[in-house]
Amino acid sequence: LPAGSIQMTENSFIKKLQSSGRSLVVFYGSQTGTGEEFAGRLAKEGIRYKLKGMVADPEECDMEELTKLKDIPNSLAVFCLATYGEGDPTDNAMDFIEWLKTDQDLTGLNYAVFGLGNKTYEHYNAVAIYVDKRLEELGASRIYELGLGDDDANIEDDFITWKDKFWPSVCEKFNIESTGEEELTRQFRLITHSPDELKPNEIFTGEISRLLSLQNQRPPYDAKNPFLAQIKVNKELHKGGDRSCLHIELDISNSNMRYEAGDHVAVYPINDSNLVDRLGLLTGANLDEVFSLINTDQESTKKHPFPCPTSYRTALSHYIEITALPRTHILRELVEYCTDEEDKKRLLLMATNSPEGKALYQSFIVDACRNIVHILEDIKSCKPPLDHLCELLPRLQPRYYSISSSPKLYPETVHVTAVVVKYKTPTGRVNKGVTTTWLADNKPEPGKPFPRVPVYIRKSQFRLPLQSQTPIVMVGPGTGLAPFRGFLQERAHARASGKPVGDTVLYFGCRHRDQDYIYQEELEEYVRNGDVILNVAFSRDQPEKVYVTHLLENNLDQIWDIIGKRNGHFYICGDAKNMAVDVRNILVKAIIEKGGRTEAEAVQFIKKLESMKKYSADVWS
Ligand code: FAD
Ligand code: 2AM
Repeated sequence: LPAGSIQMTENSFIKKLQSSGRSLVVFYGSQTGTGEEFAGRLAKEGIRYKLKGMVADPEECDMEELTKLKDIPNSLAVFCLATYGEGDPTDNAMDFIEWLKTDQDLTGLNYAVFGLGNKTYEHYNAVAIYVDKRLEELGASRIYELGLGDDDANIEDDFITWKDKFWPSVCEKFNIESTGEEELTRQFRLITHSPDELKPNEIFTGEISRLLSLQNQRPPYDAKNPFLAQIKVNKELHKGGDRSCLHIELDISNSNMRYEAGDHVAVYPINDSNLVDRLGLLTGANLDEVFSLINTDQESTKKHPFPCPTSYRTALSHYIEITALPRTHILRELVEYCTDEEDKKRLLLMATNSPEGKALYQSFIVDACRNIVHILEDIKSCKPPLDHLCELLPRLQPRYYSISSSPKLYPETVHVTAVVVKYKTPTGRVNKGVTTTWLADNKPEPGKPFPRVPVYIRKSQFRLPLQSQTPIVMVGPGTGLAPFRGFLQERAHARASGKPVGDTVLYFGCRHRDQDYIYQEELEEYVRNGDVILNVAFSRDQPEKVYVTHLLENNLDQIWDIIGKRNGHFYICGDAKNMAVDVRNILVKAIIEKGGRTEAEAVQFIKKLESMKKYSADVWS
């Protein structure tokens, strides 16, 4: 090998690009699939510009090869990168980000970055912002400005708006033009299997990756190889009202899985069988037919969109997100399957990046909460074949839950505290959350085997202080109480075993004392035993709202005393959108008013607490 050249391995994306005559590579940092989906769309659209593209997972590529990409004429690397939690990269982009921090010469590399983030979180799109800046620092050439997608608003809109300007920039740079060709080619080829072609144990029935992995369970368990946990307990926590909150105990004995208070458990859901049947009817498919979808791109590491061969029923139940709101590129594909001209026009408009198109997409899809079933019900002449829908719709994702128990008390079970998602839409339909609805429907019954659900544990940074004497303040209204129940169990356990335990202050909030005051008896028992200093805000038991924030505001002295004077820790859990922001602002106020700092100093103070892991948030939207 010539000096300085890189040995090409099977992880060589350069080799793959060269052998298939491509010059565009789109990397994704994706946790829930959206980043990957956007990357796929960009790669596919390259066809329009005779810029053949390839999608690549940075985890499966030798990213050092970025230094050599310039050797391919008119080459371009695009990065679709999501930011999670406290500004973290996705698992699959972690090593790439670490590599970028090292000294590299990326002169001659053409690049563009699109970020996927959520404005309700503090470190909005931190990963994409960093990568965009760092690539430039290392000498690479930015082809088009950084795009930032906000999942709290309309990330689809952000993406299509960005890429509509991105492509002209690419054309200008490479002196190329749009061929006007549409990229409506199928990525996957359908194979239908005859009933006697495959043995039953050759057909996937809901496994995430390995065939028969749910029947023949083998540790270690993780996202690709989840553990099938028995649901030992599944009971209602609300005492009244029309909402439901479940307390679930998952049996993890014999799994070798360990957890800490503060970790998350990921749950793989199953779609509502009524919706699955409905989609079968609307597309005229035989749901029991067994099929495979095979990637037409032989270089791709992704041979199938989900485990194949499988039946349509399994695909719709276990592998495909059928209740998510379809993005515009799916609507564009649906146009081809309409017989009515008006229907065609309407779908085409929604898939267009014009003000009218965007407005119609917003009202017909987003505001009306129409999923694919609703679209096919309401756009009657549209009859897509089910196998094409299976290719287009996103992959069903596991949902995370903050574990609400401590392994000190419950080494063999993981507890979950989950509010059941159910809401009426403007079209008069009732939409239900996939996972929480499935969980609500799967309660243990006497004389029957326990229901089972695939799960794995995801380590978090949300941790109690190492020393039990350290005082803590926890703020967790609603299901934000979940991890704090684990923390409380742990601290009470420490005290019962004779350890000194510092002040444990909890702020909890709910609507009504007699309806949704979850774990009331347990909390009151902790109060009686002196294990917790409890503050509860009932928001709707009186004419004016009372929130945890109001209670905190009355206790600024206590907050400053714990975080400012006694080296304590401060925790927030629950709604990211309003609550977490309001609580943080009150913390700023406490530091200003009781700690005598300026506003800028107070913000710095929290940043410092954060870096020392004395301020932690576990929030979701
Ligand atoms: P989905 O099928 O995913 O549907 C939910 C979606 O429906 C929403 O994203 C929204 O787009 C839409 N939607 C919901 N309500 C409405 C409405 N009124 N109008 C319009 N659209 C609406 N949840 C808990 O209950 N307890 C926890 O401890 C917990 N911990 C979490 C920890 C982390 C780190 C994260 C990321 C999330 C956590 N969640 C928790 C949320 C949980 O992961 C799921 O998002 C939630 O249970 C809903 O899942 P689902 O499959 O039932 O609903
Ligand atoms: P609400 O529903 O009456 O507005 C758990 O969801 C509890 O948190 C509810 O009592 C809810 O009140 C309350 N809540 C809503 N917004 C909040 C905010 N910004 N800060 C604190 N609590 C809030």
